[in-house]
Amino acid sequence: MDKLIITGGAQLNGEVRISGAKNSALPILAATLLASEPVTVCNLPHLHDITTMLELVRRMGVELTVDEKLSVEVDPRTLRETHAPYELVKTMRASILVLGPLLAHFGEARVSLPGGCAIGSRPVDQHIRGLEAMGAEVEVTGGYIHARSNGRLKGAPVFFDMVTVTGTENVLMAATLAEGQTIIENAAREPEVVDLAECLIAMGADISGHGTDTIVVNGVEKLHGCTYSVLPDRIETGTYLAAVAATGGRIKVKNTRPDTLDAVLQKFREAGAEVETGADWITLDMKGKRAQAVNITTAPYPAFPTDMQAQFAAVNIVAEGVGKVKETVFENRFMHMQEMIRMGANVTIDGNTAVIEGVEKLQGAPVMATDLRASASLVIAALVADGETTIDRIYHIDRGYECIEEKLQLLGARIRRVPG
Ligand code: UD1
Repeated sequence: MDKLIITGGAQLNGEVRISGAKNSALPILAATLLASEPVTVCNLPHLHDITTMLELVRRMGVELTVDEKLSVEVDPRTLRETHAPYELVKTMRASILVLGPLLAHFGEARVSLPGGCAIGSRPVDQHIRGLEAMGAEVEVTGGYIHARSNGRLKGAPVFFDMVTVTGTENVLMAATLAEGQTIIENAAREPEVVDLAECLIAMGADISGHGTDTIVVNGVEKLHGCTYSVLPDRIETGTYLAAVAATGGRIKVKNTRPDTLDAVLQKFREAGAEVETGADWITLDMKGKRAQAVNITTAPYPAFPTDMQAQFAAVNIVAEGVGKVKETVFENRFMHMQEMIRMGANVTIDGNTAVIEGVEKLQGAPVMATDLRASASLVIAALVADGETTIDRIYHIDRGYECIEEKLQLLGARIRRVPG
């Protein structure tokens, strides 16, 4: 297993280009299964999760043409199987996103149940209930979800008990080919849901209300091909801003979408950063100062994203003052705190709240990445620590960050990967 070795202490300065959003690319690749013609998806990030999704649809018999810039043409007309096996789903929970498209287009899907993961139990009951409301017969046996539909799915009102991103996406995709109208209430408003809806509209779907908590879909008989470019990754953007903020430096982030980061930019401003934005760029300047600790509470969009909690916690850990971090989306998303405590952080955890008293310095230590965003926070902690930090189980980071060592090196970080 590869490891990252980071020698901390360098102030980061410079420019970074942001890749396509993983959490947009995954549902959009799944959505190509709804079309009756080839769909080309551009601006895909080079990530393990993307490779997993491509492998998943390829195993179903779907023909893929990939160019060197990782634009992928997906031809769903060659699909032979409607099966998502355990061995792939267990490496990536987002594989569940093929459930809705397979069922709506091919009348059947057999998708392995994702099960738990490091950040909590993460059930998929809302996905299943939404599809059942549209007339699907769903059976869960032997670790698999087996869904069938007798003819086209039927449009229906779907009310989610909680805001679920992939749940909204699954039902949204299925509804595009259903007969009649589906109204999704308590829908997720995340920019990635909006991006998926825009891609579906480019394929001929009739959708309105995306970006609000009520999405209305009028089913159509067929979806056609299109070329669609995935939106820039707001979490990758926020991660580089956090890394630079923690080291007191200055950064220009290019090829991003500041309008998807309002809650996060607000917190950086509260932490003392000078933040400016243009149509597709953000600059953040700490002017060499230490950040001020800030309180954050995670919640569905447009509130502060749970996927930025760990990285912001890393900023608080070396900030001046006391910051409270409250996690309301996932029940077990503080594993990075324990690792940072081993590096000298002062953190007290009480239920879903971490009280962080900023320290002036961390000390490098061997640490272990437990999930994708936790690994990013450990990289940030290592960048500000004295001496060397070795981060084990770095495969987590490759699921969500394209060329992270190269991008950080360009900003002045001392970071290298060693094969384990
Ligand atoms: C997506 C993102 C993930 C992000 C999360 C929250 C993708 C591929 N992943 O994950 O990066 O951290 O949104 O912004 O887009 N829940 C249920 N039953 C369900 C579905 C969800 O109880 O059927 C609960 C979950 O356990 C969790 C909460 O709802 O506590 C939100 O989860 P959800 O929005 O579904 O997360 P994902 O879509 O899996």
